[in-house]
Amino acid sequence: MTQHTEHTTKHEHHAREKWGTKLGLILAMAGNAIGLGNFLRFPVQCANNGGGAFMIPYFIALFLLGIPLMWVEWGIGRFGGKYGHGTTPGMFHYLWKNPVSKYLGAVGIMIPFCLVIYYTYIESWTLAYSAFSFTGKYFGITTHQGMIDFLGAYQGKVVNQHFNGIGTAYLFFLITLLANIWILWHGTKGIEWLGKWAIPTIFIFGIILLVRVFTLGTPNPALPEQNVWNGLGFIWNPDFRQLGNAKVWLAATGQIFFTLSVGFGAIQTYASYLTPKDDVVASGLATVSANEAAEVILGGSIAIPVTVAFFGIAATQQIAAGGSFDLGFFALPLIFQKLPFGQFFGTIWFFLLFLAGITSSVAMAQPIMAFLQEEFKVTRKNAALMIGGALFFLMHPVIFFLKHGFLDEMDFWIGTFGIVFLALLEIIIFIWLFGAKNAWKEIHSGALMKVPRVFLFIMKYITPAYLIILLGFWFYQDGLRVITMAGVPPENYPYIWFARFLMIGTLIVAFVAVYIAWQKKHRIMQRIPSS
Ligand code: PHE
Repeated sequence: MTQHTEHTTKHEHHAREKWGTKLGLILAMAGNAIGLGNFLRFPVQCANNGGGAFMIPYFIALFLLGIPLMWVEWGIGRFGGKYGHGTTPGMFHYLWKNPVSKYLGAVGIMIPFCLVIYYTYIESWTLAYSAFSFTGKYFGITTHQGMIDFLGAYQGKVVNQHFNGIGTAYLFFLITLLANIWILWHGTKGIEWLGKWAIPTIFIFGIILLVRVFTLGTPNPALPEQNVWNGLGFIWNPDFRQLGNAKVWLAATGQIFFTLSVGFGAIQTYASYLTPKDDVVASGLATVSANEAAEVILGGSIAIPVTVAFFGIAATQQIAAGGSFDLGFFALPLIFQKLPFGQFFGTIWFFLLFLAGITSSVAMAQPIMAFLQEEFKVTRKNAALMIGGALFFLMHPVIFFLKHGFLDEMDFWIGTFGIVFLALLEIIIFIWLFGAKNAWKEIHSGALMKVPRVFLFIMKYITPAYLIILLGFWFYQDGLRVITMAGVPPENYPYIWFARFLMIGTLIVAFVAVYIAWQKKHRIMQRIPSS
């Protein structure tokens, strides 16, 4: 399958996969964007960063970074698809005719690949917790600490009466990995099929949970201030003093990137399966809208209000301060036990998370799929198997070194630093080097609506300036601290280094792969005239 050379180069543009239907494309893109970020990360970020006040920098970042970058990535992606490239090396190569551009694009291979390594593991917990809700496994644990111990034992950090090792987690990891490979194996058809039933299911389950939360009222009549309305007030009433805090702005901006999947290299690949006549302006906006509905309406009205209703504001804040997943995995299972039909609500809550997770993880893996298929002429099925094999091995350190901060270290470099860096590269290459006029034309080709002209100004000046300031701030606030491993227990140093080695190694492999792929292309090009 790697042998056909000349023949396929001629036909490769035509041989690329395409989305079957417009609806399928929108649902696939919505699946890409809607993920664990919407339901777990968002409510926690919000609660940790001033409640309603968080929404101000959040919406500012949405308009100045999120939406412009969404259009940029759709534009870059569809542009690359025209030339038979679904990943950033090929896209950058055609946007900026410079020998280094394709190597810069290697970052867009490395980031989604590293992300899928740890995201898929977290995704597997949600499937496990859906099963545990269904069987009532955690029913009977009544304290926050009890739930912490439950998750800890599941993850193999401790051994207790709930789990005597990591076996259960490992089983769910395998099931989740296989499910992902199975979808990838079926290509864009598989992704479209998944989106068509997963996205409606996410919304239906979300609405069921929302109605349940809104009809809770005051669960404990002895504590009238602990009610759903105060929970909603907590998330929406702005505390303007928080806006003076840089941390709140960074958190809101990071959330916009994460939730929209921008800066990861994943939107571009999906967009590359468009045809040049397809609209990107309205469709990109539809993706943003679907994601924001899932995030702000569903994500914002379930976990936080319910936790406030049962535990009060102070406790909610305290639980949320523990980390991104504490509300979802610790607080909600306690609440399900107090609800009639709690097993049912728990099952659908965690299954909703699993569906949100898998529609995102296949999107993170698809760039590598496209890269192998297009630059190395690997067949789709073989690419899915190769990725499955690589993930299988590389996920082991994430699973077994979780307690040593392996996942957190990757998450910082990929999810905080990497995405802003890639977004900046894209803006520079597309808007500045390819040229703002060309980029604007590219985005508007086939467009069903016109982007307000102010966004040209935003994309050209505001977005890049914002990104540069962000990089600076992150470096100043966290970067030095993370690089020097301040506060990390010394016994974790080797694991942190291992995580860095893995990420740098992935980047190097991506560089080398780009080099080899372009060498090969070069040779083929030279052979064509003489044959
Ligand atoms: N947007 C997804 C979420 O909210 C995460 C994601 C990032 C998905 C990058 C694809 C690519 O969870």
